Amino acid sequence: MSLGGKLAFRGRAQDHEDDPGDRLLIGGDNPPELTELVPAGFEHVEIEIGPGKGAFVVAATEAKPDTFLLGIEAALGYASLAATRLHESGRKNGMLLVDNGKLFLEDRVQEQALAAVHVYFPDPWPKRRHRGRRFFTDDVCAVLARVIRDDGYCLVATDNAAYAGQVARVMGNASMFERDEHEEQRRIDLGPGHAFSPTNFERKYIEQGRVIRRYAFRRLPRRITDKDTGSGSPA
Ligand SMILES: C[S@@+](CC[C@H](N)C(=O)[O-])C[C@H]1O[C@@H](n2cnc3c(N)ncnc32)[C@H](O)[C@@H]1O
Repeated sequence: MSLGGKLAFRGRAQDHEDDPGDRLLIGGDNPPELTELVPAGFEHVEIEIGPGKGAFVVAATEAKPDTFLLGIEAALGYASLAATRLHESGRKNGMLLVDNGKLFLEDRVQEQALAAVHVYFPDPWPKRRHRGRRFFTDDVCAVLARVIRDDGYCLVATDNAAYAGQVARVMGNASMFERDEHEEQRRIDLGPGHAFSPTNFERKYIEQGRVIRRYAFRRLPRRITDKDTGSGSPA
């Protein structure tokens, strides 16, 4: 499952014939702002980057009916499948957008708009020359820190030990975030749809007996981090 050299893309107009209903939007070269996608009345908005076939998005809309969950998936086929499952559930508190998730966070999400960003089993891009295509590169912290509200979370799961190390380093070095192991366990205890589970890759890797690493990084309140860095918005 890879995007080849297309990760920097945005915008190929993509035709699709099997419109699954009203839960799929194709961003094209000018995706809508997040505010245009979230129906009135939802104060709690979360984004999943790379939801694949959508098991987590579907479970999260059931587990948290007061939350709006937007899945941003680069691959049309997967987004379409996920949107079909969501449409069949009958729930309206979630949708799928075809776009590059990192770009969307950068330029279509206003500051402090999100209670959480979920990233489960992101593509590891194992070849050295492709490493820059990973989601968790050094530049991502500033992007996440801008869009996640105070005390919101970035939630991550991966089976790839090297990539887990990169996630821990990149997020661990960011003064705006702190790892919260208590929250990791709390969300696991809450059950499916709260964080980490279920996903297709999780199921596959559990069957294979692989070790899965799960992280919850809390966005520290701006009144604390702004004091340290002298940057960011006023509290
Ligand atoms: C390894 S799969 C994991 C799918 C799902 N999260 C799971 O655990 O079953 C990674 C997914 O991320 C998507 N993806 C990769 N880079 C992306 C990006 N920049 N924006 C949005 N989706 C992306 C891929 O198309 C793929 O569906």
